[in-house]
Amino acid sequence: MKKPLLIKDGRIIDPTQKIDEVGSLLIAEGKISWLGKGKASPPQADCDVLNAQGLIVCPGFIDLHCHLREPGYEEKETIASGTRAAARGGFTTVCCMPNTNPPLDNQTAVEYVKSRAASEGVVRVLPIGCISKGRKGEELAEMGDLASSGVIAFSDDGKPALNSYIMRQALDYSRAFDLVVIDHCEDTVLTEGGQMNEGIISTRLGLRGMPNAAEDIIVARDLALAQLTGGRLHIAHTSTEGAVELIRRAKEKGIRVTAEATPHHLTLTEERLIGYDTNAKVNPPLRTERDVNALVQGLKDNTIDIIATDHAPHTEADKLCEFAFAPFGISGFETALASLMGLVHSEQLTLSALIAKLTYEPAKIIGNRQGKLGTLATGAPADVAIFDPSLEWTVDTKDFASKGRNTPLAGEKLKGRVMATLYQGKLVYKDDSIKVKERN
Ligand code: DOR
Repeated sequence: MKKPLLIKDGRIIDPTQKIDEVGSLLIAEGKISWLGKGKASPPQADCDVLNAQGLIVCPGFIDLHCHLREPGYEEKETIASGTRAAARGGFTTVCCMPNTNPPLDNQTAVEYVKSRAASEGVVRVLPIGCISKGRKGEELAEMGDLASSGVIAFSDDGKPALNSYIMRQALDYSRAFDLVVIDHCEDTVLTEGGQMNEGIISTRLGLRGMPNAAEDIIVARDLALAQLTGGRLHIAHTSTEGAVELIRRAKEKGIRVTAEATPHHLTLTEERLIGYDTNAKVNPPLRTERDVNALVQGLKDNTIDIIATDHAPHTEADKLCEFAFAPFGISGFETALASLMGLVHSEQLTLSALIAKLTYEPAKIIGNRQGKLGTLATGAPADVAIFDPSLEWTVDTKDFASKGRNTPLAGEKLKGRVMATLYQGKLVYKDDSIKVKERN
């Protein structure tokens, strides 16, 4: 049998137990078996040791929004490559969107993803089922069937549920399963042909814009429908100041809504598009500094509950074309933590708030059907991220495990790096500098 592993002398941060201090963690049989503060000795002497001195040890990250592309778009990503990329980013649970081919709108497709995840995945994969059949927005998917096959949410992501009646029904029915409905809020009538944020820069570049109002309109509608039905609404990739304000007011009224923001919307602006970099083309588009500041403020006051990557891998060929023909999307798993650490280094967010929004808060939205996630409590699955908060590195997409190298951060220097990731006690990623030794 495998020896227990002692993660020794790291700075343990676990918002669920209000812990932020140096200590050690013992992992046995895939579970957290002991957490000791300071120099406390573990109850078991015979174990392997990972020295985490100078590193942060926290629950593995949980991503409520990513695209693993399987089935149907295996040239962009597979469950094998996507989960390896997730592990490199410190993620131990990833929830995959159903805009695959075929879409995850029936039990067979969901079972397929689950079986591929069981055989090829290196971290936990939790599928999200479609709201509508074929993601066409015309007829509700068999939500009951999808719920019994184990989806953790419903979404037509990539597209909004534009038909208000369908969205009303989805929110209504989802209450029976206590699952959240995740909407991609975009009035696609207003964004038709849009390539980037609408404003001075889009005008200068001669690219058709996507106005903030396109997002704000659907957020406002969905909040009204959540109030009408009592269903749980989750707003995907919030990107506008107006949406943050609408969500804030809805929360004050007691509407059951949660919201996410992505690392790219929290740290980058539309100026990234000035050189027509197709790797910065994403939907919703990168917006203005004013929007970025509103999102960060929303994170701070918990209007924005969680951070989700919207990891959207595409091939180089997909992106190497005239701007208008490039697909939307940024490959996000492997740069997420480092870009977000920028908010910590600039003192806009505390480290423990950042960790909560990547661990415990998304776990709350998923619910506890999957067991205790997002915590280092004893008995919980040993899903652990270990990172160096201040190590500087340069993004080299050749090192990515993801097939998607589509990031506007290529060549950029970032500060903060994932050094090791454990999933159910197993080391699924480790930087070369990390050594596991036998205890002596
Ligand atoms: O940029 C995006 N890419 N936004 C989406 O909503 C979908 C995603 C994709 O699937 O590529």
